[in-house]
Amino acid sequence: MGGVGFAVSGRRGDDPTQYPGKLTWYVVMTLMAAAMGGLIFGYDIGISGGVTSMAPFLEKFFPSVYHNQMDDTSTNQYCKFDSQILTLFTSSLYLAALVASFFASTMTKKFGRRKSMMFGGLIFLVGAIINAAAVHISMLIIGRVLLGIGVGFANQSVPLYLSEMSPYNYRGTFNVCFQLMITIGILVANLFNYFFAKIEGGWGWRLSLGLAGVPAIIIIISSFFLSDTPNSLVDRGREEEAKTLLKRIRGVENIDAEFNDILAARNDARLVQNPWQNIFKSRCYRPQLVMSILIPFFQQLTGINVIMFYAPVLFKTIGFGSDASLMSAVITGVINVLATCVSIGFADRWGRRTLFLEGGVQMLIFQIAVAALIGAKFGVTGDVTELPKWFAIVVVICICFYVAGFAWSWGPLGWLYPSEIFSLEIRSAGQSVNVAVNMFFTFLVAQVFLGMLCTMKFGLFIFFAFFVVLMTLFCYFFMPETKNIPIEEMTRVWRDHWFWKRFMNDPNDPVNGAIKMNKIEQV
Ligand code: BGC
Repeated sequence: MGGVGFAVSGRRGDDPTQYPGKLTWYVVMTLMAAAMGGLIFGYDIGISGGVTSMAPFLEKFFPSVYHNQMDDTSTNQYCKFDSQILTLFTSSLYLAALVASFFASTMTKKFGRRKSMMFGGLIFLVGAIINAAAVHISMLIIGRVLLGIGVGFANQSVPLYLSEMSPYNYRGTFNVCFQLMITIGILVANLFNYFFAKIEGGWGWRLSLGLAGVPAIIIIISSFFLSDTPNSLVDRGREEEAKTLLKRIRGVENIDAEFNDILAARNDARLVQNPWQNIFKSRCYRPQLVMSILIPFFQQLTGINVIMFYAPVLFKTIGFGSDASLMSAVITGVINVLATCVSIGFADRWGRRTLFLEGGVQMLIFQIAVAALIGAKFGVTGDVTELPKWFAIVVVICICFYVAGFAWSWGPLGWLYPSEIFSLEIRSAGQSVNVAVNMFFTFLVAQVFLGMLCTMKFGLFIFFAFFVVLMTLFCYFFMPETKNIPIEEMTRVWRDHWFWKRFMNDPNDPVNGAIKMNKIEQV
């Protein structure tokens, strides 16, 4: 039946055996190699907080910040670390990634997912080299911008690659490997900072920044050997190649059902000339557009990057010494990696919704606990000189539970869910919206967190908790389950949904009309 059915929805129901095939070694190796793309993003998230707390680095590039910190004798813990210039250095990367993701959209669509990954890796490598060799702040900034461009390209293309290449009933498992690589990148970066900060002569920061080149080289080499996805090949008119590839990655000769679905999606896609115009204008893309904006928005408003960027600072605030703070950041990093594995095992079994909902509730409970603990001890003045050890330990435990909640829900699913819901014609554009919104709010949180901590005090955790309530409700009412649904059949989840279906059957919608006419002609 494949591409010639009248309606896109419900073509073959929920039958999990609808596409014949098995999990081949070839596809497993390919997907693992592609998931490495997450490493560069993770390494960067993890590295900058530690580097900007290394005294020799600060003294060289941000002398005023360095002297302010040295001279600061106030006991108001909430406001100790607020420095806009320093956070701008960290967060500038995310602005560059935001802009780059829009260029990546065209590249990913026209030249394939693989080329975007390779390009991202190359630019990132150049950025890492410039950063490691920096003798002036301008080199640091240029390096950061190049790293950002690399992240923009990789985050735009890798999740799409994984979702299209995976067998549909393992899509969750493999796509979550992207997040696993992000978390490994963060952890490795934290460990490096911990050791390199101790290097005598104070040049350890060069190693921290320069070693970002290693994951970049891994991506460049792996994308060199990867084949592109069948969906992208068909989209670019290379059907025969796509057929041969499908047989190889699914390990069977009979790939007609899947191939025909991809072909049908491509035929629909050809009716849509301008994805950018349509994704914003056509009502039938409204559900997908809303998800591509709200999911990354909510992911960042969980407040996770407060922990990822500022864990050492936060732990210092609650009374740990420098070493203990860095060590606690490593502990939360380990929890982040381990908890992501839960999602690898269960995203395709329990479904996305169960994980989203459970993760939301868990984060909420422990955010409130942290707010209560910090509020009780620091009050509104933040004037504290000594805190009992048990207190710091209990806070760290609560933060670990919060991180685990994120790591098996909104962390991985924040990349998986958007990458699997777009129709082929707007997939690349939609993913760019997702990356851009994600980067914008990553930037914003990084930029304003320290200032907010200073003004909102422990109320900051309540602020993020409020968004966690909103997003959990949003998920409950508006996010349909996507597990076990082939990617090119995803429109049916919107057609069957109590709320979104009203957008899907509008006869006046030009895209809807054209796609329907096309199907009638084909029958
Ligand atoms: C988010 C990052 C975050 C990381 C933490 C990712 O999914 O996009 O902003 O730092 O998870 O593991």
